[in-house]
Amino acid sequence: MPILWRHAQLATLTDDAPWGWLADGALLTIGERLVWLGRDADLPGDAEVDAEYDLEGALVTPGLVDCHTHLVYGGARADEFEARLQGVSYAEIARRGGGVLSTVRATREAADETLFAAARRRALALLAEGVTTIEIKSGYGLNFADEARCLRIIRRLGRELPLTVVATFLGAHALPPEFAGRPDDYVAEVCAWLPALAAEGLADAVDAFCETIAFSNDQARRVFDAARALGLPVKLHAEQLSDQGGAALAAGYGALSCDHLEYLNDAGARAMAAAGTIAVLLPGAFYVLRESRPPPIAALRAASVPLAVATDHNPGSSPLLSLLLAMNLACTLFRLTPEEALRGATINAARALGLADRGVLAVGKRADFVVWPLNHPRELAYWMGGCHPSRVIVGGREVCADGRVANEADLQP
Ligand code: NIG
Ligand code: FE
Repeated sequence: MPILWRHAQLATLTDDAPWGWLADGALLTIGERLVWLGRDADLPGDAEVDAEYDLEGALVTPGLVDCHTHLVYGGARADEFEARLQGVSYAEIARRGGGVLSTVRATREAADETLFAAARRRALALLAEGVTTIEIKSGYGLNFADEARCLRIIRRLGRELPLTVVATFLGAHALPPEFAGRPDDYVAEVCAWLPALAAEGLADAVDAFCETIAFSNDQARRVFDAARALGLPVKLHAEQLSDQGGAALAAGYGALSCDHLEYLNDAGARAMAAAGTIAVLLPGAFYVLRESRPPPIAALRAASVPLAVATDHNPGSSPLLSLLLAMNLACTLFRLTPEEALRGATINAARALGLADRGVLAVGKRADFVVWPLNHPRELAYWMGGCHPSRVIVGGREVCADGRVANEADLQP
């Protein structure tokens, strides 16, 4: 059924024109798609529509895309937050068996319903800020049964929530205690689980954590080989705490994205550019860990590597549940422009997930868009909290903050 949205200031993000700006624009949707978009004055006079909404000059952007999260986990790690405030480092906490492994213990102990309910609440918090597509990684199970269980919960979130959920298998996130001292044996296990996970349709992509406190370059390579054998795209937590050459390795596998990148070197940036790999910046983790070395934004720009911004929501290094705040941090801490931050949380984030059907407002794309009570899109990266959409449209349907799809009675004309 055709629905017409009139009198909007559109930040289409479609081209190099600043913001892809279209003043006094209109959008026509049929089902899940945008079928017409242009100046309100150019609306075809004969268009028959089932509903028409006057947005009265409000700002409209594409739906936001959070392309890097770890939303499914048990427990919390506020105790580690306190320890870090006392001067204990993230790496030291990990070496003492805390960090990722403490969340692994809590996740393994948690019932499915507990994990699902907590992740659902977190996803709805993102949705309430205009996020219409979320990537969620496994990586807190670290055995076959619990990794598969978390991936099934991720799939259930995608079925039951009115947003797109992309599932990424991150078995190579940390070395589980059962394999202490035997990382190569664990990596062999991770590779051996992949065919069954893929056969059940549980993974859209495969990720690994390449770092001194996690897995080596060679171990990441073995995981990527297993993914490639199954036709699954790869991505990498790369160069977060040290330069491991992980980005160049991942780019060699045509990785969708390399994420974090504080210690990325020039060769890595060039390899990413050649492979079309997206740089996913995670300023929440940078801020929480009080890192001092920002990713090499100038080198990434010079190499024309597209920049994305994500929350990296996780209970350790980034307990951040606001993509808008991640955009603000990307500007303040990494010196992105507000427009780069918005493109980073829409079109470039979609590219980091291999999704070509969203992230911009254009004919043929998904009708995922957000109406904001703001005058200009630069405000999205400017306000620190309290910036809420007036309406969120996912696949042509308006959704409420509680995750219900609005029915006709909820919609104001
Ligand atoms: O993306 N870097 C590795 N993994 C997560 C942190 C996970 C955790 O501390 O629980 C990240 O920052
Ligand atoms: Fe992460």
